Amino acid sequence: MKSLADAASWTALREAYTAAVALIGGGKRVADHSYLHVSLVQEHDGALEQLVAQAAALATVTDGAFDVVRFGRRTPEIALLAYPRFFDEPFPALACSWRLDILKGEVIRTDFADRNNPPILHRKELLLSDEHPRRPEFEALTRGLEDYGAFDRPSWLIGTRAAWAAVLDDLGLRVDDGHVLVTEQPPSSPQIQRHRTAIARSKLSAPMQALARWGLLKNATVLDYGCGRGDDVRALVQAGIPAIGWDPHFAPDVPREPADVVNLGFVLNVIENPAARCRALEGAYSLVGHVLSVAVMLEGKGTGRAHGDGVVTKRQTFQKYFSQAEISRYVADVLGREPVPVAPGLLFVFRTDEAEQSFLACKQRSAVLDRDGLDLAFPAAPRPARSASERKRRAAEPRPPKPSAYEANRDLLEAWWSACLEMGRVPDPDEFDDYDTLIDAVGSAKRAFAALPYPNRDTQLAEAADRRRGDVTVYLALNLFERRRSMTALPPTVQRDIKAFLGSHKAALEHAKAALFAVGASERLTEAVDSGAAAGLGVKAADGDYTFHIDNLSRQPPPIRIMVGCAERLEPIPEDCDLIKIHPAEGRVSFLMFDDFLNKPLPTLRRRLSVNLRKLRVQEGEPDPPEHRRLLFGKSRFVNQGFPRYDTQARFDERIKAVGAYFTEGLGVSQVTLTSRLITAGITLNGYKVLRLK
Ligand SMILES: C[S@@+](CC[C@H](N)C(=O)[O-])C[C@H]1O[C@@H](n2cnc3c(N)ncnc32)[C@H](O)[C@@H]1O
Repeated sequence: MKSLADAASWTALREAYTAAVALIGGGKRVADHSYLHVSLVQEHDGALEQLVAQAAALATVTDGAFDVVRFGRRTPEIALLAYPRFFDEPFPALACSWRLDILKGEVIRTDFADRNNPPILHRKELLLSDEHPRRPEFEALTRGLEDYGAFDRPSWLIGTRAAWAAVLDDLGLRVDDGHVLVTEQPPSSPQIQRHRTAIARSKLSAPMQALARWGLLKNATVLDYGCGRGDDVRALVQAGIPAIGWDPHFAPDVPREPADVVNLGFVLNVIENPAARCRALEGAYSLVGHVLSVAVMLEGKGTGRAHGDGVVTKRQTFQKYFSQAEISRYVADVLGREPVPVAPGLLFVFRTDEAEQSFLACKQRSAVLDRDGLDLAFPAAPRPARSASERKRRAAEPRPPKPSAYEANRDLLEAWWSACLEMGRVPDPDEFDDYDTLIDAVGSAKRAFAALPYPNRDTQLAEAADRRRGDVTVYLALNLFERRRSMTALPPTVQRDIKAFLGSHKAALEHAKAALFAVGASERLTEAVDSGAAAGLGVKAADGDYTFHIDNLSRQPPPIRIMVGCAERLEPIPEDCDLIKIHPAEGRVSFLMFDDFLNKPLPTLRRRLSVNLRKLRVQEGEPDPPEHRRLLFGKSRFVNQGFPRYDTQARFDERIKAVGAYFTEGLGVSQVTLTSRLITAGITLNGYKVLRLK
């Protein structure tokens, strides 16, 4: 219906329009229009409210008959829109509109109240002011829907009640009391049931374990984003860690609040919609205070019908199998921040450069972690265990009559001395918690050092300094190799290390560069291999290859650690890796996984991953059939004396060698061949026992 108003009022409206519309702040922008709820209009300068009042008068609409005002940004036009259930329905329907064409001076009224399929409103929060009390609730609903990709269609496809209902139905969603729920019935299309991927867990998930192992859960709040059935969260809470979990299906009501640590565990790989996948990653990272862990399924672990960039399984779940390089690139592209690969399919993304560099420095200081289990109270910067030889040496040292300063402050001085040995230098005041107490007790760091009852303390500190020099070199070299942008933000402790061990920053970088290049020179690598083998840290074979147990990685000479670090950039060390093999002549690193390496006297090679640094290629060795898998001979030579049952293993190795069953240490014949050789030699094996056949 059209109504004409008197010309003077239209002229006044035209004159007021441009200036008043320029005042608009906020509201929802769609194409060339801005939509504002009347409450937001009222919060603007009086001119905008006055304009709307003039428009309402011209349209002969009473105050309160409309809820939303739409302003044309390019063409002078105002529409007064009635959404009577604006605050009561998640997607209120338009009941009536009065559109004022200001240039023509006419009003068009359209009634939608009796229509079966009226236009509806989404993202209501955008029409309200930031402070409006209902805004957070509306925002949460929008985010929930975005997570499922509900808005990934053109607006004409979601703009009416029926079309929107079809979209929700397609996605298997229902909105109930302002929350997004996943319906139990399989939706018509696409039939993806993301929540069905969630499994019940009897132990912490791999990403949570890694966070705990690296000490990142200590004193941290945790948000498990896409927590599934919530078993991780329950375990953390039980261990006293303040953790909450949100999941669009299992825990939609839990508020997604910022936390120090956010875990996005095995979520990205179950989201079939690329835009929603990207939003989940951004959403999780937006809440991170310190670190985000991202875990995905890696390629080659399942099958299904092709769908988008992944597969749909028989259970109507979606899986996108990433490659290691792909997930790293994806995270870097979406977040604009380089992730740190931690394990296969697992990345950490730090909030700040400083946090990233602290972690990298700590990673080099503590390549050996508790691989057997989870210690939730893991210290923030794990202290390397004293080597057995060091322990022996310390125990054997004759102790002079103890100076009284030591006697009186034994615990304090021991704690300080441990810190010295860990850091390879005397800690600065802010690097030792009880520094003030120490100074009060003994006067100075120099006196504290003199009070120690260890005649070899200078040598010990020099050895520790050597080790730390190696750590810092490896850390800087890997930073250079990875071209990490965060490198400009070296943490204060690292800066002090550089000063203490390598001189200036420039000299340290030169030193690190040289160490990195050494990895490409086989003769320099061979030197490192020889020194590692001489120190009993690994075994050098006749062909020059060098094999060592993963627990000895952090003690290897820097070129070897750098080489492994470079390989890790292409393929993180598998969690179940037992031995690492360096092939200096080929520029290759292999990760070897055995069947029960810990308990078997002759472990069987189960899997082998090889990273060729010259060709930048990762290769998985074809698995042998179980009966032809090769055995590892001489296990005691590859581990150190602290390894469980070391002495029993060493005796076993001697005995089996003595009977002539094998001649070289390392990977040898299969179980089948060994058994026939042993029979010929009149021998049988029972666990660690080598028995003569009667
Ligand atoms: C494989 S489960 C992983 C659950 C849990 N993180 C774990 O490791 O046990 C994937 C979970 O992601 C949830 N999910 C689906 N879409 C999501 C989204 N857009 N944002 C966050 N989580 C989502 C599913 O409901 C499901 O519970």
